[in-house]
Amino acid sequence: MPHLRSHDRRPARNYARIPGGRVNKDLTQLEILTELEPIAEQNLNRHLSMAKDWYPHDYVPWDLGRNFAAMGGIDWDPAQSKLSEVAKAAMITNLLTEDNLPSYHREIAENFSRDGAWGTWVGRWTAEENRHGIVIRDYLVVTRGVDPVALEQARMIHMTNGAHSPDNWHGFLLNVAYVTFQELATRVAHRNTGKVCDDPVADRMLQRIAADENLHMIFYRTMCGAALDLVPDQAMEAITRIVTHFVMPGTGMPNFRRNGVLMAKHGIYDMRQHLEEVLQPVLKQWNVFDRSDFGPRGERAREELGLFLEKLAQDVIKFEEQRDRLLAREAARAGLQPA
Ligand SMILES: [Fe+2]
Ligand SMILES: [Fe+2]
Repeated sequence: MPHLRSHDRRPARNYARIPGGRVNKDLTQLEILTELEPIAEQNLNRHLSMAKDWYPHDYVPWDLGRNFAAMGGIDWDPAQSKLSEVAKAAMITNLLTEDNLPSYHREIAENFSRDGAWGTWVGRWTAEENRHGIVIRDYLVVTRGVDPVALEQARMIHMTNGAHSPDNWHGFLLNVAYVTFQELATRVAHRNTGKVCDDPVADRMLQRIAADENLHMIFYRTMCGAALDLVPDQAMEAITRIVTHFVMPGTGMPNFRRNGVLMAKHGIYDMRQHLEEVLQPVLKQWNVFDRSDFGPRGERAREELGLFLEKLAQDVIKFEEQRDRLLAREAARAGLQPA
């Protein structure tokens, strides 16, 4: 884990700033973290001033709760839940992702720093994320939204496996680029899950979580943007690698494929949302395609990113055509079934 030195002991730099802000050579991870620490501090303070204090118990309809069999009540039965299959799949996926927080915490804590503003951010972010898992679980158990036994078994498997970044994503730049997109992706998924739950209580809870994810995204997006100004080529290479290899955080959880397909089929998180609501707005904010501070490596990475996005846009259309045909077939089959 990198450790920042206090300012008076900072070693002499062996690099120089070029007018416009960037430096004249590749920096080590520690140098990047040290250079960006004042910006991290500013944005940590911004975050603390914007973040709303909220309490999970205020978002759970406790009067719907009943004992389970072990306490003399009755155990879960699918008929007790009003949530649709799609809503259940999305809730489980979102919750297991939130549950896997220790794995993400490890990754962030190892690649950011424990010192100064970075350390404060990592602690604060972890505490906020933990609230998300708490409130979703309380809601699901009290409303009997999903099978609590299956949920617990899936949590054990998922957390024991941990989250694995494909392709060895280590280092600050890769991590900060990844979490920028991940936070925005979870924001979209939570918000759309709220819409399909058909329950104003669930919708309110998931909107609350989505608002947190948005603030997290803004912190990471700002820090990654600052890295892009500081070390444009290094940062651009990291961003391209992340975008071209992006996987949703739940990869590897039980039923991830089945649930992911259901979520994509019903517009909770699909390819168009990934492209238009996650990738494009962030890349626009970083001004990736209009920057003039890249060297040959940055230019190459940007070109690769551009080609990838063009291909993705074509794949979106193919995916939607297939999805429309599939949904039409399902609707036709449902129509043939006796009521
Ligand atoms: Fe979260
Ligand atoms: Fe978050």
